[in-house]
Amino acid sequence: MFLKALMQWIHVGSVVLMIGGFFFFRVVLLPIANRSADPGALITSALRRFGGIVWTALLTVLISGLYNFITFFRAARAGSAVNPLASDYSLYIFVLGIKLFIVFLIFTLAIFLTFPYPVFEVYQKRPTPWLNLTVIFGLIVIFLSAYLRRLG
Ligand code: HEM
Repeated sequence: MFLKALMQWIHVGSVVLMIGGFFFFRVVLLPIANRSADPGALITSALRRFGGIVWTALLTVLISGLYNFITFFRAARAGSAVNPLASDYSLYIFVLGIKLFIVFLIFTLAIFLTFPYPVFEVYQKRPTPWLNLTVIFGLIVIFLSAYLRRLG
């Protein structure tokens, strides 16, 4: 019970800080930086600082997400042992599959936007479209997760 609450807190908390952080970056910080004397330097150093938060959140989201995943399968197995006919999890698995595919895209974009590798400089110099995509994907994943909660 305590572990479940702790994992839910970690999952939702990490998601809030990460997706909220990307939203703040795109909607508040970027327009202000673009009006400053040296937008490039400001954006790069902000991405560096934000990177630490993002990488930590990626790890905690993954661990708590896997925990959710395992507890779902345990409950599903127990449920179908009791009543095999009443337990059809195909829609849940389908929606979860779509969610995890979009999560994979978010993780990829997050790495492209924040890892200090020269190959990613193209994305970090002009981050606007990639930040837009990250925030939109994040909002879609949050809806799919709310739906999953009702299906589970
Ligand atoms: C950007 C990444 C992610 C976002 C924005 C996200 C968002 C959410 C949200 C908002 C919830 C609902 C929590 C609640 O109602 O208490 C949730 C639940 C869940 N998440 Fe994630 N999540 C992400 C990554 C992951 C990953 C990587 C996994 C699996 C490896 C995962 C598996 C799950 C599962 C199984 C649930 C429980 C759904 C249910 O209630 O049946 N999530 N997620």
